[in-house]
Amino acid sequence: MATNTVAIKRRRAWTTTVFIKQLMALSGLFLVLFLLFHAYGNLKLFIGAEAYDHYAHWLKGEAFYPIFPKGTFIWVFRALMVAAIGIHIFSAFYTWYKSKKARKHQYAVKKSAVDAYAARTMRITGVLLIFLIVFHLLQFTTLTIRTGFAADASPYEMVIASFQQPWIFVVYLIFVSLVTAHVGHGFWSAFQTMGWVRKNTRTFMLWLSGIVAGVIFVMFMLPPLFIATGVIH
Ligand code: HEM
Repeated sequence: MATNTVAIKRRRAWTTTVFIKQLMALSGLFLVLFLLFHAYGNLKLFIGAEAYDHYAHWLKGEAFYPIFPKGTFIWVFRALMVAAIGIHIFSAFYTWYKSKKARKHQYAVKKSAVDAYAARTMRITGVLLIFLIVFHLLQFTTLTIRTGFAADASPYEMVIASFQQPWIFVVYLIFVSLVTAHVGHGFWSAFQTMGWVRKNTRTFMLWLSGIVAGVIFVMFMLPPLFIATGVIH
């Protein structure tokens, strides 16, 4: 009877862990969509000040009007972002805590050295990303840290003035490289968690993860590179 209760408890804990991992995978996939959208939007810097500022104002004003009343889409989007980031961090912490506890009681499935390295890398890049995202929001959303631009600068002026400073370029090179490393493994991991990797799709999925991470890196870093080298000004 007692053995039965222990077995039921373990099965329930296992089911909960799988569910939480799926939450991590789905919130992560949502965040990847955001990254692709954001990086694509930033490419408007190549078209010019008018196009970029118009896009930035559209997001905060008429975006998806009349489906959303003017000015509300950005708040729906922000609420979704806070929820996705919150769920992602919580589920990462929960999975880490559970596997640590399981290791202590020695009923964990032993991870390969590669998996253990990947899990540690995801944790380290994840924590560093939290700090860099906070820096990014303080810089461009709340304008608390003004990196070479005036308080009333337009979005275009903000970005240009920032990347004209070599240290900002370096910070973003590190930031975007960490995003790329995190997404590269996370994307693949999410597909595995969701059970979407089959024997015949494994290679395709691995390639897809690498390509998505690579596209994110190139799309984000192109504008800073062209600003830092004076091509866009
Ligand atoms: C070169 C790379 C990047 C540039 C030039 C850039 C530029 C910007 C700008 C200008 C804004 C403010 C938009 C506005 O309020 O008008 C912004 C907002 C934001 N960025 Fe980035 N970004 C970059 C990379 C990233 C990365 C890698 C992430 C996430 C990992 C990120 C996440 C965000 C978020 C969450 C917001 C807040 C959106 C809001 O206002 O609610 N950005 N970015």
